[in-house]
Amino acid sequence: MSAIESVLVENRVFPPPPAAVDGARIAGMPAYEALCKEAERDFEGFWARQARENVQWTRPFTRTLDESNAPFYKWFDDGELNASANCLDRHVGTPVENKTAIVFESDDGQVTNVTYKDLLARVSRFANALKAQGIRKGDRVIIYMPMTVEGVVAMQACARIGATHSVVFGGFSAKALNERIIDAGAVAVITANYQMRGGKELPLKAIVDEGIGMGGCDTLKTVLVFMRTPTRCEMVAGRDKTFDEVLKGQPDQCAPVPVNAEHPLFILYTSGSTGKPKGVQHSTGGYLLWAKLTMDWTFDIRPKDVFWCTADIGWITGHTYVAYGPLAAGATQVMFEGIPTFPHAGRFWQMIEKHKVTVFYTAPTAIRSLIKASETDEKVHPKNWDLSSLRILGSVGEPINPEAWMWYHRNVGNERCPIMDTFWQTETGGHVITPLPGATPLVPGSCTLPLPGIMAAIVDETGKDIPNGSGGMLVIKRPWPSMIRTIWGDPERFRKSYFPEELGGKTYLAGDGAVRDAKTTYFRITGRIDDVLNVSGHRLGTMEIESALVSKTDLVAEAAVVGRPDDLTGEAICAFVVLKRPRPTGEEAKQIATELRNWVAKEIGPIAKPKDIRFGDNLPKTRSGKIMRRLLRSIAKGEAITQDTSTLENPAILEQLAERL
Ligand code: WTA
Repeated sequence: MSAIESVLVENRVFPPPPAAVDGARIAGMPAYEALCKEAERDFEGFWARQARENVQWTRPFTRTLDESNAPFYKWFDDGELNASANCLDRHVGTPVENKTAIVFESDDGQVTNVTYKDLLARVSRFANALKAQGIRKGDRVIIYMPMTVEGVVAMQACARIGATHSVVFGGFSAKALNERIIDAGAVAVITANYQMRGGKELPLKAIVDEGIGMGGCDTLKTVLVFMRTPTRCEMVAGRDKTFDEVLKGQPDQCAPVPVNAEHPLFILYTSGSTGKPKGVQHSTGGYLLWAKLTMDWTFDIRPKDVFWCTADIGWITGHTYVAYGPLAAGATQVMFEGIPTFPHAGRFWQMIEKHKVTVFYTAPTAIRSLIKASETDEKVHPKNWDLSSLRILGSVGEPINPEAWMWYHRNVGNERCPIMDTFWQTETGGHVITPLPGATPLVPGSCTLPLPGIMAAIVDETGKDIPNGSGGMLVIKRPWPSMIRTIWGDPERFRKSYFPEELGGKTYLAGDGAVRDAKTTYFRITGRIDDVLNVSGHRLGTMEIESALVSKTDLVAEAAVVGRPDDLTGEAICAFVVLKRPRPTGEEAKQIATELRNWVAKEIGPIAKPKDIRFGDNLPKTRSGKIMRRLLRSIAKGEAITQDTSTLENPAILEQLAERL
């Protein structure tokens, strides 16, 4: 079968290996189907049972689901709990107490082990330090930290005192940070002087200073700085304090503050269809249930497992499957500060061997780049390391193409390890459509079937079900415990974005296109149907990048951004730009393109830099002035224009825009 064909039609089926079925929590499809039936028969009873079995409540809930103000659903809303207690205190007095919680490997390969008991003490001490700084339940705290144990400690400590954290990925710019501090009304920023990535010391604190310096951060009182490296950084007297200063003399016990199940555990900003990122607000009870439950269901986590999720704590995957899930499940997890290609592109495989990782969870983009690296350099191919400890593999963040799936299966999983292609989103809190290792026969490139209780479907614009075999919009027809609760400060946007009137106002619209296989009924995600791009598994809004470009007011008159397929990054950003000066060509065009790329990196972050920039005297518009984006998408792909261009105001522009720099 040629590569092209195998992308379109995938007939290979991989039944779960006997070793994965043996002793699995959900063993075999009948066990999965029984759970689905239970959820259909008694939806609330099913979730109440899960919540009682998986979460420790300081005050048991009596109400499971409150739909009276849909789509503002409430779960377990008269119950109380603490998320940190559910990750740490729950293990006290059990064999987990002295088990390693985190095996931390630094960028330069130094390893530190932290037991559950140690972690509880460190989180408690830090929680006391936060309280001493006047931070209270309900306050918002921005965390702008490298991948370090301290990053997880900061998140857990916020949770412990009921403060709502908002982690900002360390690759985001000062401007992005400034907007998030203001939007969240944050009282504190927790950061580090520097972060170590690929042998380089990159500033964090200096970016925080720059972000605060942009103004508007009126609620902010404190900046706490972890000294990751010995290098000094600027400290503002009265506002900034080092971890050492605030931790000094703090006891390592701190009673966890019980909060209502609906209390916002965190806000995480993500890109949507407009220029402004949205603060996705998650609950405490439903979210924590999901973090724990999916560790059990999707990874079938067992006492001896060594779990490794490579995601940064700045993304939702690093929240659910680094900071909360593995701890709630009492697992030992590897946490890695560095990047997969330093000091060589075999680093992941080397670390799997070294730490005897059993469950490995990463992104297709990482897999694709490591495939490429091992094609040019035999020495970094996984075959050079002993990966026999692995039993389950996972993939997240974007569709995994069958070629990458097969490579992962053969070369990393040695044809023994099932691959969990987990579909989910910042908004879903955790996995929603995913195979189960001991049950689901796998098809490369398919995230297979919804978890029990997830009523996923594919519909048309009017909400009508679409028959299997045809594509449509992915929706979830009933609420689920870990769903987004609202957009911070913008409930109307929440309602409009996710529960549109056209679908009845109660159906969750994921924003992805999908198709169910006619034979297997498996789901395959076909990509975003809105103006959101997925570049190396990172979500970016086209409008967000357009706003960044046009904010360079001395140069840019107009900009339109589209995505195009890219073998390595999944999608690549392509920007079409009209300047306030004559259209540049040759060297001048190249120079301006570089200037614009750097500008976008400063406005949003380096991940948002357009790969292609094309200049035109204008953009292709209809006579009513609407930019014809589908034409731009074709041009970006390098396709011949076959669409009808008769409605176009200025057809000659297409030729200009097709010109590569
Ligand atoms: C995409 C990341 C195909 C999808 C957890 C979704 C996927 C967006 C998969 C959410 C998958 C995530 N197969 N596509 N297994 N997982 N996506 O919010 O387009 O960063 O809407 O959450 O990633 O990205 P987010």
